Amino acid sequence: MLLVLCVSLCFGCTSPETETPNETETPAETPAETPAETPAETPAETEQEPAEEAGTETPAETPETGPGPEPTGEEIKAYVTEEDNYKNWELWPGTGELDEGKGPHGDMITIYVSDDAYSAIEEKAGIMPDSSTIVKEGYNSDGELEAVVVMHKIEGFDPDHNDWFWLQYDADGEIIAEGKVLTCYNCHTRQANNDYLFTGGIK
Ligand code: HEC
Repeated sequence: MLLVLCVSLCFGCTSPETETPNETETPAETPAETPAETPAETPAETEQEPAEEAGTETPAETPETGPGPEPTGEEIKAYVTEEDNYKNWELWPGTGELDEGKGPHGDMITIYVSDDAYSAIEEKAGIMPDSSTIVKEGYNSDGELEAVVVMHKIEGFDPDHNDWFWLQYDADGEIIAEGKVLTCYNCHTRQANNDYLFTGGIK
């Protein structure tokens, strides 16, 4: 289809010029036909393009989230597993590996914190700085990893909820929830005065 359109368009463009000098040649008829067809097809095709553009919501979303493209769950996952593997981080001060879970995130939990998050907890900073990250592994009672939940702070990402990017993926790395996740911050809102954090006071 595209090829046909292209070819006919090209004919349409070039024919008026090529036609005049080559008046006597037989192909003169062909270009005469093609331009007649082209206008009929072109409106149909061109209509689609603006429609597609209007359907794309990206421009509408961008102003809401501030400058820069919105990060994806895959990017945040890659950040905490490859770029700066959370397994090398400190545990949340005062917690241990496979502690008993008190929330919905597993029977046993291990909570890792990035350096800046660690300092904010130790210094009772009241609020965590940009790029602070908390990664929590949730295990079932058999000690099998079931879910990983992440809170990663991105300045300007969601000012109404202290700019946390919420992420959950399963043991296979498949993303279950990402971004401004209502179910996550609705429950964590109970701790809004503690930067949405349950595990320990940071004030
Ligand atoms: C029903 C309430 C509830 C929901 C929904 C919930 N959480 Fe939590 N979350 C908790 C509680 C309670 C804790 C602390 C106890 C624990 O870790 O077991 C916690 C702890 C955490 C922590 C460790 C930091 C902290 O706050 O102490 C992270 C990270 C986390 N949740 C991420 C998430 C993400 C991501 C989602 C959404 C996919 C989510 N949570 C949904 C209740 C909830």
